[in-house]
Amino acid sequence: MSINPKKRILTGDRPTGCLHLGHYVGSLQNRVALQEEYDTFILIADVQAMTDHFEHPEILLKNIREVVRDYLAVGLNPEKSTIFVQSMVPEIAELAVYYLNLVTVARLQRNPTVKDEMKQKGFEANLPAGFLVYPVHQAADITAFQADLVPVGKDQLPMIEQTNEIVRRFNTLYQPVLTEPEGLVGAVSRLPGTDGQGKMSKSIGNAIYLSDDAKTVEKKVMRMYTDPTRLRATDPGHVEGNPVFTYHDAFNPDTDEVAELKSRYRAGKVGDVEVKRRLITALNGFLEPIRARRMPYEKEDKMIDEILISGTARARKVARETLAQVKNAMQIAYPFSN
Ligand code: TRP
Repeated sequence: MSINPKKRILTGDRPTGCLHLGHYVGSLQNRVALQEEYDTFILIADVQAMTDHFEHPEILLKNIREVVRDYLAVGLNPEKSTIFVQSMVPEIAELAVYYLNLVTVARLQRNPTVKDEMKQKGFEANLPAGFLVYPVHQAADITAFQADLVPVGKDQLPMIEQTNEIVRRFNTLYQPVLTEPEGLVGAVSRLPGTDGQGKMSKSIGNAIYLSDDAKTVEKKVMRMYTDPTRLRATDPGHVEGNPVFTYHDAFNPDTDEVAELKSRYRAGKVGDVEVKRRLITALNGFLEPIRARRMPYEKEDKMIDEILISGTARARKVARETLAQVKNAMQIAYPFSN
């Protein structure tokens, strides 16, 4: 046992597709930056993915591996960050069952993230119970690792709040064994999609992926929405709320170029095409080292699977310890249980 144990991070992603720029600025960037300082656990949330993909569990295996490739590509180091699969740590599911008693259905229905997603997925009439309670499962994800910090996109903050309510309820009702986590929102808390409408999201189809090649990035950017009120390049344009400029701000390291483009755009002295061309250059410059780091794993399943096997073994040990403390606090660690 170390005298001054590192603080812990727990975060994760649903393996319903590859990770995109929104994931990067929302959470991945923080994870990479903090993996030295924190004992980092990264969960691939296949059980959570099933709450809206239960009819298509066959997509999970491929996407779990893709997500690991994305992690390696952005610079997460499996020696420092424990990468694991949610369904392979059944202690999480067991914790969730106990936590379900500590939250009301009404509270879950008021959870803003659940509400948004229900609308987006058109669940109103036939809401699966598993979907409604997934925030409780997420509270189990976080608390199983006694996480201090949870790097997430802004849309996930209601999940942390829900977790903290469950933690406080548990700690006062039983014994104070669970840690209250804090959310850490990324540099850009909510990256818009290429359609400029909602946030960047696979299900909306407005995402640029970390694994997109240069040509794909070019095509997606050329099709991007800009300022709908601007009809000609000589019309003064709007920079605020214009996704092309939001991406420039987020990914173009040449801040002088961005400032210059903005002032010319506002004055009606630059066309959308030039602004987009420069964005393509900036994005491909940002993605190039990520693609290069991904390359050796592209056709390689064995190395990926080994990362998951060792990560899951380590994660399971920690979760088992928490579950033992929880059962003890609840007085269900019976003398006749092992
Ligand atoms: N809900 C997160 C998402 O949709 C994924 C996730 C599952 C997660 N469990 C987590 C994030 C625990 C942070 C902590 O992106």
